[in-house]
Amino acid sequence: MNTMISSPVVANELPSTPHYTRPTFLMCPPKFYDVDYVINPWMAGNLHRPSRDVAFAQWNGLYQHLKTMADIKLLHAREHAPDMVFVAHTAVVNHGIAAISSFAHAQRQPEEKYLREWFKEAGFLLWDTPRETAFEGEGDALFDGEGRMLWAAHGVRTCLHSHRHLADAWHTRLTALHLIDPRFYHLDTCFAPLANGFVMYFPEAFDVESRAKIEAAYPAEKRIIVTEEDATHFACNVINIGQNVVMHQLSHSDLPDRLMDQGFEVTQLALGEFLKGGGAAKSLALRLSDLDVTNGL
Ligand code: ARG
Repeated sequence: MNTMISSPVVANELPSTPHYTRPTFLMCPPKFYDVDYVINPWMAGNLHRPSRDVAFAQWNGLYQHLKTMADIKLLHAREHAPDMVFVAHTAVVNHGIAAISSFAHAQRQPEEKYLREWFKEAGFLLWDTPRETAFEGEGDALFDGEGRMLWAAHGVRTCLHSHRHLADAWHTRLTALHLIDPRFYHLDTCFAPLANGFVMYFPEAFDVESRAKIEAAYPAEKRIIVTEEDATHFACNVINIGQNVVMHQLSHSDLPDRLMDQGFEVTQLALGEFLKGGGAAKSLALRLSDLDVTNGL
């Protein structure tokens, strides 16, 4: 039986749930990573094209870099779960509660039970999502940089009806965003709330109403607009730890300079083997520590 919660909960009322005092992430090595099927447009044409050796070297580069500023927990990779390396889509975590994904595609559903086991073992409270309301973790639901509210997408993978259930896990405010471009099938491919009240995003991935919601929440000087060229190189798929932003390497882009102008330190790493599967830096690490700890607030 999974531990289920049905009332508002705050972490410090739950002494048994983990409370990390350093930025902490979960990663899963690409031991069985491959493009075995096509469930997003980036995978088309890339069937069995990733090199596992290169993928491992790239993943290790990210792991070693993150270890200089965060604690990293490791999840065992499992055979027949080639996308498990993209662990960020398996859950959303805050205040010791893990809202577990209900993957839209059958190919990723086997990952759910491994994550449930890991979170249970680590002492988290599990918030399961009904199978009929697809929800894909941090792929489609991201807290703002302070952890005060959730941005949640629908339109491709995650179903609009999952949003209320998700918000109930923390009794938090949630703003729905509608994704309209199949290339940007997850929110974390086109939208990144950052520390210090910034947001980085590719506006054309959203419908007009959603863009208006983002503009209403963030003043113009806090919005970092990403070009289509950069967005198609997964520039929005970043890991943010306080002032640090970690992303796949971009060529001929002014985005790193624009981020540095706003006080961020940008690290660009080669993650090309993972672009073949439709993900980059953000997809490879799931945040476990609360936002105040992760961003040093
Ligand atoms: N192949 C994985 C999937 O389609 C890749 C996930 C990467 N997601 C992302 N948001 N970048 O589910």
